Amino acid sequence: MKFFLWLPVLAVCFCSASAKVGNDPLCGTKGPPTNPDGRIVGGEVAEPHEYPWMASFQAYKPSEGRLTHNCGASILNDRWIITAAHCGVIMGGIRPTIVVGSYNLTSTGPLESARQSLSIEKFITHPNFSSSHDYLANDIALIRLATPIANLSTAPQLGSICVPEKAKNAGNEFVDSIATASGWGVTFSGSATPHDVLMKVFLPMVAVKECAEVFQTSEEDTKTMLCAFAKGKDTCQGDSGGPIALKIDQKWTVIGLTSFGRGCGGSTPGVYSRVALFSDWIWETIGQYENGNEENGNQSS
Ligand SMILES: *[C@@H]1O[C@H](CO)[C@@H](O)[C@H](O)[C@H]1NC(C)=O
Ligand SMILES: *[C@@H]1O[C@H](CO)[C@@H](O)[C@H](O)[C@H]1NC(C)=O
Ligand SMILES: *[C@@H]1O[C@H](CO)[C@@H](O)[C@H](O)[C@H]1NC(C)=O
Repeated sequence: MKFFLWLPVLAVCFCSASAKVGNDPLCGTKGPPTNPDGRIVGGEVAEPHEYPWMASFQAYKPSEGRLTHNCGASILNDRWIITAAHCGVIMGGIRPTIVVGSYNLTSTGPLESARQSLSIEKFITHPNFSSSHDYLANDIALIRLATPIANLSTAPQLGSICVPEKAKNAGNEFVDSIATASGWGVTFSGSATPHDVLMKVFLPMVAVKECAEVFQTSEEDTKTMLCAFAKGKDTCQGDSGGPIALKIDQKWTVIGLTSFGRGCGGSTPGVYSRVALFSDWIWETIGQYENGNEENGNQSS
């Protein structure tokens, strides 16, 4: 009798720890102790490193011979950054870089001691991002850094922000909350230079239909948005991609990404990409990438 000898084929796995596919354990634990209260006191300079998850998405500008700020972004963990999809279009691919740990982008002083400038390995645009109307939809993207952020958990100037749980209702989950938007964007409509130090503005979240009416968004696309408004307070050019955040269950959470509006600080509300609608996409995309399935997703760099 013959036996077939079964040579056990050992599936050798070089995969060390499986990819992080959820919020950073320490996300949202740094930052201000509470949400702003009911008084709107927006449009002011932030405290140094008050929002340690803030990142600046920069590109090399030949005319200035240096990297310049183009968009805001937020740190999810030491390798991943979240921003708006339209920021990838703005960047045009000229050596884009992520700057973290900064307060005054033009300074090299002591407050900038934790600043790091990191190369982008991959810019992953949401597959349904659309700019084909007079508005943007699914305006969300993930960035994988070529090298990890150093000292993310230990440096007080650096921290990660949490992604909210998957959305359950129609874009109105945060209505009446006062959220905090932050950015280095211009401080008035039409200005060309970003602000050197980080600014903050406190904005009430309003029903998404208020934005849907103004911008004539389709029902399907409206689901991808949040709406915020306070007269004379707003995010502006250069703030795009940056967070609008709320402290939820003791953790700072990125509920929206600055997406679009009409002018800045006028009488129309601003639109923010609704991160809670994309939480599954965020963790699936990160998980797939970290596990080597790089062909998945609509990727560009
Ligand atoms: C930011 O840094 C630059 C260069 O050091 C300095 O000129 C500017 O005043 C700083 N901005 C603020 C608001 O402190
Ligand atoms: C990380 O922190 C250590 C200890 O404070 C410091 O020596 C090192 O320069 C920091 N790394 C970066 C990239 O800032
Ligand atoms: C993109 O839109 C299509 C059609 O609505 C949908 O089936 C698909 O799930 C969307 N993709 C993602 C990643 O959400």
